[in-house]
Amino acid sequence: MPGQLRIAPATIERLASLPSWFSTPEALAQWGGSGLSFPLDTDQIEAMLAETRTSPPLRLAFVGLIEGETVAHAQVALDWTDGVARLARFVVSPAHRGQGLARPFLADVFARLDAVGDFPRLELNVYTFNTSAIALYESLGFVREGIRRSSVKVGNARWDTAIYAIIRER
Ligand SMILES: CC(C)(COP(=O)(O)OP(=O)(O)OC[C@H]1O[C@@H](n2cnc3c(N)ncnc32)[C@H](O)[C@@H]1OP(=O)(O)O)[C@@H](O)C(=O)NCCC(=O)NCCS
Repeated sequence: MPGQLRIAPATIERLASLPSWFSTPEALAQWGGSGLSFPLDTDQIEAMLAETRTSPPLRLAFVGLIEGETVAHAQVALDWTDGVARLARFVVSPAHRGQGLARPFLADVFARLDAVGDFPRLELNVYTFNTSAIALYESLGFVREGIRRSSVKVGNARWDTAIYAIIRER
């Protein structure tokens, strides 16, 4: 029986295992986009976390912990001008997938987002082949708004990006 999931701010120490979750350039790009270099390293993680320390923060970054072990990670990019928050770089550790952690973790992430400010539009990008993530997002009420065809180059492949959003009443 797994222990209780709790959410905490992401730190470089809490993300020490994150690079090992992505075993190929494609897996890294599926999670973090084509702008990252494989393998993920501390410098790239630190650059993401630096955006959480601006004032106001440009990004929120969280980990899901079970008994002190990092089992999930997500970031939320914040557009304060327009009140748009973009869920990004969401992942559950390979060893913990398929155990129902994604929804409770995201619920905690969205609660933390609401504590930070008013973001009526919550959006995300997901590659169209990522059927498990798409099933999850659609089950949470995200609505597909369109597809940016052939928008990302990974190796010799080009991927289509689906844009999803929820317009939230508060
Ligand atoms: C997407 C991801 C976060 C889901 O995490 P998870 O812990 O496996 O998900 P859960 O076990 O909590 O399942 C939640 C829902 O996700 C969907 N899902 C998860 N695994 C699935 C699979 N193999 N096939 C289809 N749907 C799946 C289902 O809707 C599921 O709900 P259900 O069990 O009620 O049907 C995980 O697969 C992952 O980390 N993928 C790699 C990184 C990534 O692609 N991130 C998304 C970037 S946009």
